[in-house]
Amino acid sequence: MTLPFQSLEKIPRHVAIIMDGNGRWAQERGLARIEGHKEGAQSVRAVLRAAKQAGIEYLTVYAFSTENWKRPKLEVDGLMKLLVSSLDAYEQELHDNQIRLRIMGQFERLPLPVRMRLQKTIDATADYADRTFIVALSYGSRTEIADAAKRIAEKVEAGELKAKDIDEQTVSDHLYLPDVPDPELMIRTSGELRLSNFLLWQLSYSEFHITDTYWPDFREEEFFHALEAYNSRDRRYGGVRK
Ligand code: IPE
Ligand code: IPE
Ligand code: MG
Repeated sequence: MTLPFQSLEKIPRHVAIIMDGNGRWAQERGLARIEGHKEGAQSVRAVLRAAKQAGIEYLTVYAFSTENWKRPKLEVDGLMKLLVSSLDAYEQELHDNQIRLRIMGQFERLPLPVRMRLQKTIDATADYADRTFIVALSYGSRTEIADAAKRIAEKVEAGELKAKDIDEQTVSDHLYLPDVPDPELMIRTSGELRLSNFLLWQLSYSEFHITDTYWPDFREEEFFHALEAYNSRDRRYGGVRK
């Protein structure tokens, strides 16, 4: 599908998405929740393509939160399996489009076969510099910030850093992906008005676009509408209207 992305005046460098509503999408159809996750994986593929067409440099998707570990084992296992099969199915597409895969979250908490499969694609795409696809996995923003605080404190203890020199940049520099710019736009599907522990620091000044559409139904056109909405926003950063 070709959409008129070139007609948009502003294209964000980085878009972050809370992919929500897979379970409800499935339930409404009398299907098992995993069927919603499978259909949602197709949306990831569609949005990744659209983001490339639009010229977006970084796309981050929230795939599994630190809180999602408390879901039934059947669902967690199904999601991990889906992750591996999606990598098998889409890796070629990452190469064809020169997209680098990166992960943010508690990597060591993922099952070993998942880590190994992820690492293979992370390594194979590491040299692509223009586009990055970031998957937040076993990700929780409070853990990320607490870990950053711990590492900063260790540097102070070791005498590598002075407490009086700690500023916003120091904190940013100790998050999982310090080289990635903050998202200008955050999209959440399925209508929930909350952050669910996603990028609390990085989204401080981002524009939010919340749609009632469930993630499995969120495809290229919906993504285009989100970018249109972003274009109509007046970003003031605490200043006054120009
Ligand atoms: C989002 O869909 C995917 C994950 C959190 C893994 P949900 O599974 O949260 O779907 P709902 O919110 O129950 O509809
Ligand atoms: C947020 O969705 C996490 C992901 C999309 C991975 P949830 O469905 O887990 O969040 P809550 O429970 O609605 O806050
Ligand atoms: Mg949900």
